Amino acid sequence: MHPLLEKEHQQLIDLLDDLDKCILKGYSVNQVVKRLDDFVAFAGEHFKNEEKIMEYYKYTDIIDHKKEHASLLKQLRTLQSQLSNGLTPFGQGYMQLLRNWLEAHLLDTDNRLEEFLYQINADSDKKNR
Ligand SMILES: [Fe+2]
Ligand SMILES: [Fe+2]
Repeated sequence: MHPLLEKEHQQLIDLLDDLDKCILKGYSVNQVVKRLDDFVAFAGEHFKNEEKIMEYYKYTDIIDHKKEHASLLKQLRTLQSQLSNGLTPFGQGYMQLLRNWLEAHLLDTDNRLEEFLYQINADSDKKNR
């Protein structure tokens, strides 16, 4: 696994776990909003870093992968603004939604990128032998 991606994916999971605990324990809306903000900010940062890696290694599926990031961020920002405007009661339903997309993205889309990076590494190892 790419070390930076591995580290950042773990951070995303940790931030989501934090948000989950906050909801389960019935923290105030402000505290939930704050944790959601942290999660969205970090997701945005991670997507940028991951996209830089894709560009550097000329990843073949970069366009679709970037589209997926953009659509995830758009959904998160909509949820964020609904929540800060008091329009959405944030609960387990939304939590499940966030978990589902994170898992689907990590296990499918990001996994394909990891395989591609692994292959590049294996090929360059062969050349250096
Ligand atoms: Fe990704
Ligand atoms: Fe990722």
